Amino acid sequence: MLFYFTATGNSLYAAKQLDDELISIPQELNKTNRHYKADKIGIVCPLYEFEVPGVVKKFIEESEFDTDYFYLIITYGKHHGSVAARTQEFLKQLGKEADYINTLIMVDNALIVFDMEKQKRTESEKRIDEHLKQIKADIDSKKHYIQEATEEETAFRDGYVKSIEENGPAYTFPLYKVEETCSGCGTCTKVCPMGCITIEDGKVTYDYTNCVNCMACIQACPSKAIQFATIQEPNPNERYRNSNISLKEIIEANQQKLF
Ligand SMILES: Cc1cc2nc3c(=O)[nH]c(=O)nc-3n(C[C@H](O)[C@H](O)[C@H](O)COP(=O)(O)O)c2cc1C
Repeated sequence: MLFYFTATGNSLYAAKQLDDELISIPQELNKTNRHYKADKIGIVCPLYEFEVPGVVKKFIEESEFDTDYFYLIITYGKHHGSVAARTQEFLKQLGKEADYINTLIMVDNALIVFDMEKQKRTESEKRIDEHLKQIKADIDSKKHYIQEATEEETAFRDGYVKSIEENGPAYTFPLYKVEETCSGCGTCTKVCPMGCITIEDGKVTYDYTNCVNCMACIQACPSKAIQFATIQEPNPNERYRNSNISLKEIIEANQQKLF
């Protein structure tokens, strides 16, 4: 049993290599009394600002996992910031503990920092499938391992936290503007895992109350009509989705169904 959160498909791709029973965290959050029982239970998610995304932490906090082996795989693009060790501390504070936490370097989808065209070219050098194979072998054999914190990675994270304290948050709302090239196709409403976007009379409207900055909407817009409202991004003409994952799969993972 493997729970996942994804905006652009990296974490979903990793999850698909690790288990057959995949459950979308944002969809699962609609359920109350979440108690899960399985031989192995895992979570795969991206790294956001050197942390497990708040929505994933909320899911962990509010769920009960009855299992022999609990593991987390955190996908990231450049610096993991020693997230594994911090995540184990977070779990311990909840009275939970992971048997295995590892990170997996993939294409970095952080649009505000990187040019997606250049990022896509880093894919082969990151040896993703090789690392995934190793992680799968570890999990299959129920290996006990928490990736250790390193001085260098911890320093990256600490430097970032300090800069946020001094300069304010990297993301401010309203985060996006929608250009006239919007065709009203509704893709953004379907890929948003938090149900923040609606279309009324062909016009896209954001409610940022639950937005987690995952950027699924801006990445998936087929006409690149969604742009940052104030942030100057390196390349507004290039967007990213994992090359092994279809738009349909992102929609199936994230679309909020009305129960
Ligand atoms: C808001 C945001 C913050 C991110 N922060 C980090 C980070 O701190 N370190 C890092 O290496 N990658 C960071 N990334 C990159 C993603 O963690 C990485 O590309 C991940 O594999 C995306 O997974 P997904 O395709 O399943 O959404 C960030 C991406 C976003 C959108």
